[in-house]
Amino acid sequence: MARLKVGVMISGRGSNLQALIDAAADPAYPAEIALVISNRPEAPGLDHAARAGIARRVIAAPDRAAFAAEANAALRQSGAQLVALAGFMRILDDAFVAAWRDRLVNIHPSLLPAFPGLYPQRQALAAGVKVSGCTVHFVRPAVDSGPIIAQAAVPVSPDDDEERLAGRILAAEHRLYPLAVRLFAEGRLAIVGNTVHIAGVGAPEAALLNPSEVLASAGG
Ligand code: GRF
Repeated sequence: MARLKVGVMISGRGSNLQALIDAAADPAYPAEIALVISNRPEAPGLDHAARAGIARRVIAAPDRAAFAAEANAALRQSGAQLVALAGFMRILDDAFVAAWRDRLVNIHPSLLPAFPGLYPQRQALAAGVKVSGCTVHFVRPAVDSGPIIAQAAVPVSPDDDEERLAGRILAAEHRLYPLAVRLFAEGRLAIVGNTVHIAGVGAPEAALLNPSEVLASAGG
């Protein structure tokens, strides 16, 4: 069966792009990356794409509408059927979001709707939450909003700083994004209002408790 063609948009490191490249290296994975677009020519993620032999395009148009028009044309030309934002740090114009409605997804390192926008891990630490995580969602015009496809929960440790928490969440992101793209590619997702229904996959039973129920003996 033909694999779903995915366009990935990045601005920097590209570790989520690499996770998608790794997933797609398995011929049984139902999606492949047709094009990587970066708005920054120096984005290290472009090297990941180059190593994997994936078509790359740098679009640095300063104007938001011009950027969107170029990106849209490049994606159409590549045959992309889904666009995945992976650390893409530019605000997309509403016309682009509308053109790709329900075929445009993003990953964000918090359990949305908590902590949208910049520095979500810092926001989570400041709020004192015991569990954070990451979210893959369909994109709507408001930043980090839109129907949620999948989430991964990650415990916050008492000695976390922003970097340690970000690293733990990132490891979960690398599992979650390929899963979410797979669910899309398999045609399992149905958007009903603001909710995504997923066919043929159940929720896991376990709850993540933080702190753990395994307590050290008191006064020891
Ligand atoms: C990730 O934490 C992603 O959730 C956020 O930006 C970061 C990008 O990291 N949107 P990378 O470029 O994929 O390594």
